Amino acid sequence: MPDISQRIDCVTDECAAIIETIKRQQSEEAAYASTLPAEAYNSEAFFDYEMEKVFRADWLFVGHVSQIPQEGDYFTLNIVKEPLVVIRHQQQVRVMSSVCLHRWVPVVTGEGNAKALVCPFHNWTYDTGGQLIGTPYMNQAAEFDRHSCSLPQIRSEIVHGMIFITFSDSVESIADRLRPLNALLDKYQVADLHTAYTLDYDCPFNWKMAVETFMECYHHSAVHRTTLEDSFPGRLSYIGEDGPGWTLCHQPLRKNGAISEVLTPGLIPLSGFSEQDMRQIDLMLIYPTCLIGLNPDRLSISTLLPEDRHTTRWHRLVLVSKASAAQPDFAATAAEMKNGSLGIIDEDLGINAAQKIGSRSRMARPGRLGHLETTVWHLANYLRRRL
Ligand code: FES
Ligand SMILES: [Fe+2]
Repeated sequence: MPDISQRIDCVTDECAAIIETIKRQQSEEAAYASTLPAEAYNSEAFFDYEMEKVFRADWLFVGHVSQIPQEGDYFTLNIVKEPLVVIRHQQQVRVMSSVCLHRWVPVVTGEGNAKALVCPFHNWTYDTGGQLIGTPYMNQAAEFDRHSCSLPQIRSEIVHGMIFITFSDSVESIADRLRPLNALLDKYQVADLHTAYTLDYDCPFNWKMAVETFMECYHHSAVHRTTLEDSFPGRLSYIGEDGPGWTLCHQPLRKNGAISEVLTPGLIPLSGFSEQDMRQIDLMLIYPTCLIGLNPDRLSISTLLPEDRHTTRWHRLVLVSKASAAQPDFAATAAEMKNGSLGIIDEDLGINAAQKIGSRSRMARPGRLGHLETTVWHLANYLRRRL
């Protein structure tokens, strides 16, 4: 696969001015931090630049191995305009472009199980490893050798069961970068979890607004005042360790709160957690867009798929222990969990849509950040390093 990560240099005057502002205004200390310039959420040229320098150059989370346990199981997603298929082939996870080698229709969409991938346009057929094995009525095409044709393979790594991909040949291993997180990811047994359900929805705003809002709890007392704030007051949250590849925010249960406020009815908590551990939820961002909510009985892992500067697809997996998934009424538990999450998601979607409107104003200047939003500054610093 050719390295296409640096193919386009899309710096325009507008984009160069935004980069210059970001580099100049970012403070060295959290106490002096401000937001990125509002233009960084609204400029088309800057969005294109981010797609090259961040999304085509770094690692992106796409899913968990438990989504495709059997030979031929697959799911698909579009990421920086690249239709991809993630499929189990000869017991290994493979990630490939799904763009047909004939006239470019994605050969597979959605999710399921396949013995072969058959393009819906003219029935060109690929095996589950991407090799072209069938090309009807192509026998008069001179010097066409289907045996030498296969779908482009995308570089991938599996870290604690999480599947990451990159379009870059040169970026360092993500497993190396995340090594300091091994103890935490082991504690949550991430590699052994079961996918309870997935949830996709569209966000009508820039991807960075979604990341920032997920990673700070400062907004609980306003946006989630009737939902999350009682049990998880934003003022108690605190920023954890961060590294070049991630940042963490800790969200303790209110003082004297009951553990039942953390747990989901019907789920069996993960083993090995102390009473103190059970009283906290952790939020993790693996840059740029892998958002993880770590609870003692479930994890949510999301990836954000930007479509344009103001449109982002949110793809969320919710994972539980195998013991939880084996319970007889688990389907009902999963359905309730899914329903129960929608209200809080709506609250976040509403506030970010409002933020998008304000960010387009010519009056929108960088705003100061408080100590409960240090993760917002961390994301800005990550961007500053990559631009
Ligand atoms: S585009 Fe796929 S077979 Fe023609
Ligand atoms: Fe929120």
